[in-house]
Amino acid sequence: MSDHHSEVLIDFQNVSKRYGAFRALRDVSFQVREGEIVGFLGPNGAGKTTAMRILSGFFPPTSGHVSIRGVDMSKHPHKAKQAIGYLPETVSLYPDMRVIEYLRFVAKVKGVPPHERWGHIRAKMSFCGLLEVSHRLIGKLSKGYRQRVGLAQALMGDPSVLILDEPTTGLDPTQIKEIRELIRALGQNRAVILSTHILPEASMLCNRVLMINQGEILASGTVQELASCLKNREVIHIRIKHREDRQHAVEALGSIQGVRGLRSGEEANGETFFAFESLPDEDLRPKITKLFVEQGISLAEIRREPMNLEEVFLGLLEEGKLGRRFS
Ligand SMILES: Nc1ncnc2c1ncn2[C@@H]1O[C@H](COP(=O)(O)OP(=O)(O)OP(=O)(O)O)[C@@H](O)[C@H]1O
Ligand SMILES: [Mg+2]
Repeated sequence: MSDHHSEVLIDFQNVSKRYGAFRALRDVSFQVREGEIVGFLGPNGAGKTTAMRILSGFFPPTSGHVSIRGVDMSKHPHKAKQAIGYLPETVSLYPDMRVIEYLRFVAKVKGVPPHERWGHIRAKMSFCGLLEVSHRLIGKLSKGYRQRVGLAQALMGDPSVLILDEPTTGLDPTQIKEIRELIRALGQNRAVILSTHILPEASMLCNRVLMINQGEILASGTVQELASCLKNREVIHIRIKHREDRQHAVEALGSIQGVRGLRSGEEANGETFFAFESLPDEDLRPKITKLFVEQGISLAEIRREPMNLEEVFLGLLEEGKLGRRFS
């Protein structure tokens, strides 16, 4: 775990990014210290990849400053980038190279001295579980193994900052477990930033989470704070078949005590959905089902689920916690 005495390895200061007129990041600031694993959590299009590309020096911000271990990315890009390992969202590897050739090439580019290269490559292959595929062509590897090659590539040169863009996407459950274990081990003496849509993944791996939505940090906090915000929060989802029943359903739901913050919308197949946050200690499903049946409302489905990320975002927005901490 980090404390306030450990070194600030990542400093992201008032960063904004525009793509043409579109504002993908709006005045985002945060710091990450040695020993911290920080999660970027947010829905599609939130700006996670954009922030990571700026961090890795892939492109500059429209305004704001980035420094890595105190080195300003815009002034000394080469030096700043040397301290960074980056696993991009889509790992672009060389399909016609063998794993070992590719890693040798990366080691050279990352400035690992020639006499240390072989030992270094072997250690990374061993750590990432690549020894048995070292002579295979990258293009012929499974997705999970390609992801491991991507991770080994990011680790080359022992960078003190690791940026991992959705490191577990597309992997099977066994591979996910293994990659998560690797990341946890890596976080101990580095600064790691990883992005995910998956809340349990963030809570499993990260000391701290930044919730990002529409280019802004919506909330930040430790995993404990996040967990207490989510604990026992559930949502009831309802679908009705016929459009004519919609108003009727709204009235029926309105008459039931405990139904608050009702959202509704139309599904692609013409059905209507409703969702609202469930009471923690009372299951309203039997009551709703009974009322709908009595009133002849065309109920297609009613289910109760743990609150998901999007709903937490909506909840936070509604509660006016913009930019605040969870607790
Ligand atoms: N090169 C680009 N040109 C124009 N718009 C872009 C470009 N790259 C990203 N965007 C837009 O910026 C916004 C943020 O994209 P970004 O890829 O950073 O999101 P993300 O949080 O990584 O999403 P995902 O979870 O889907 O990976 C999106 O609306 C996206 O369409
Ligand atoms: Mg992305």
